[in-house]
Amino acid sequence: MSETVPWRCPVCRAPLAPVGRTLACSSRHSFDLAKEGYCNLLLASRTRSKHPGDDKAMLRARSGFLSAGHYRPMADAVVDLLSPHLSNDASLLDCGCGDGYYADVVQRSLQPTIRGIDIAREAVRMASRRFKQVPTASFAVASTYDMPVPDAAFDAALQVFAPVSDAEVRRALRPEGVYCAVFPGEAHLMALKEAMYERTRGHKEPKHPEGFALVRERRLTFDMALESSEDIANLLAMTPLNWRGSREGKARLRAMDSLVVGADFVLRLYRPVD
Ligand SMILES: C[S@@+](CC[C@H](N)C(=O)[O-])C[C@H]1O[C@@H](n2cnc3c(N)ncnc32)[C@H](O)[C@@H]1O
Ligand SMILES: [Zn+2]
Repeated sequence: MSETVPWRCPVCRAPLAPVGRTLACSSRHSFDLAKEGYCNLLLASRTRSKHPGDDKAMLRARSGFLSAGHYRPMADAVVDLLSPHLSNDASLLDCGCGDGYYADVVQRSLQPTIRGIDIAREAVRMASRRFKQVPTASFAVASTYDMPVPDAAFDAALQVFAPVSDAEVRRALRPEGVYCAVFPGEAHLMALKEAMYERTRGHKEPKHPEGFALVRERRLTFDMALESSEDIANLLAMTPLNWRGSREGKARLRAMDSLVVGADFVLRLYRPVD
């Protein structure tokens, strides 16, 4: 693990440092490093579920869909928003990092040190595997509502479609840092909902996080031509429609082998304010 931005002990908040195959603090709280290099810093006492966050099927579906490049224009737009604010040795915290797809795109273009947090162990495992060859990247199983990171440590924070605590993001950022947040726009995946005859209510306008001032906002819309039943099944399985939608609607979608779906994203860049 890179020396810059150590993880923090979830019990006593002291910095964690590598000791053999563990990360340990000065009070000897110690956390095993998995073979993929990540650490589980989620205390069992702080979670009700045994497997919190997205499940394996959802993670695999999202990973398959992202790796097919369907959301790549959004990932590139994240890079564009961040790039004026990240110098070469900058650090980025990905909150709710999933399989690390966006951190990967940002890392390849802007080379920041990466720390990524997700509450789903499988997500963190996938992200760690992806970054195996990148010694400056490190991932932990943890909640974005109680992040095991130091105060004022990061030049940038990223959140793509993940639940976060505004106060925690603000705490983790340097005063001059930036926070890039991506939300679904009103018409996001409307064609998917229509194909399921869902009541087509659009996404609500996302609220601005407390303690931040908006620097830039960008609306990004584009059509995605899904040309295999696998792509369609992956998109369905990675959205809440998968458990909300009707059985007939899902069957109808699964029978399709092509579908054009509009993506609609709201990308925002914020700065912390007092
Ligand atoms: C919609 S996915 C987005 C993942 C990733 N940012 C992406 O776009 O590919 C939301 C992610 O947030 C994670 N998550 C949900 N609640 C969380 C929490 N309290 N703390 C950390 N991660 C959480 C889920 O496990 C899931 O990986
Ligand atoms: Zn400790």
